[in-house]
Amino acid sequence: MANAKRRFCGRLRGYGIAAAGIGLALGLAAGSAAAADSQVQRGKYLVTFGSCTDCHTPGSFFGKPDMKRFLGGSDVGFAIPGLGVFVAPNLTPDKQTGLGNWTEQQIVTAFTTGKTPDGRILAPIMPWHAYANLTKSDALAIAAYLKSLPPVSHQVGGPYGPGQTPAEFVMVVVPPAVYSSLPKPPPAAPAAAH
Ligand code: HEC
Repeated sequence: MANAKRRFCGRLRGYGIAAAGIGLALGLAAGSAAAADSQVQRGKYLVTFGSCTDCHTPGSFFGKPDMKRFLGGSDVGFAIPGLGVFVAPNLTPDKQTGLGNWTEQQIVTAFTTGKTPDGRILAPIMPWHAYANLTKSDALAIAAYLKSLPPVSHQVGGPYGPGQTPAEFVMVVVPPAVYSSLPKPPPAAPAAAH
């Protein structure tokens, strides 16, 4: 009888431990979901603060960012003397035209060291030299946020070599005399540019 009672209590204690285990697992799952959520929020904050949005969203250089294609790649290229014209690509997780096939680590490496998975070094107008100073966790938060975006299908052109004619509008530094000889008013973006 005493033995049976001891066995019964032992079993109860076993259930107690199992229940505590399940509770702990649920707690950890909820905790990690909350942590992932706050990582994405942190990434959103940094992407906005770091101006990734301006260079990588179409319409932003015309004063009207196209929020339906948020971070979906620019419609204006930057002319870099001697290098060519570079258009900020699609950062959304679209597999064909964006970063859908890149791992978060590959994204981090690109915007903190300039190295893309195909071995190219990004033009310095993409401020990776500055982003090299991000902490590891902030850089990962940015990549996690980019991965959480709705995919946008939009292929940017380029990069264009110095002799090539880009299909996009171009941001270029010109001497004052060239600027003042531009047609007036300065060329406006046609409403149907995108
Ligand atoms: C001043 C404009 C500018 C800003 C600000 C900017 N980028 Fe870029 N980014 C570019 C341009 C231009 C390229 C393309 C450079 C090239 O092709 O060599 C690029 C390329 C990239 C690439 C490589 C994508 C690919 O498909 O090759 C990644 C990733 C990237 N940027 C992430 C970011 C992130 C993240 C931020 C903000 C933290 C950011 N960029 C801010 C202009 C910018």
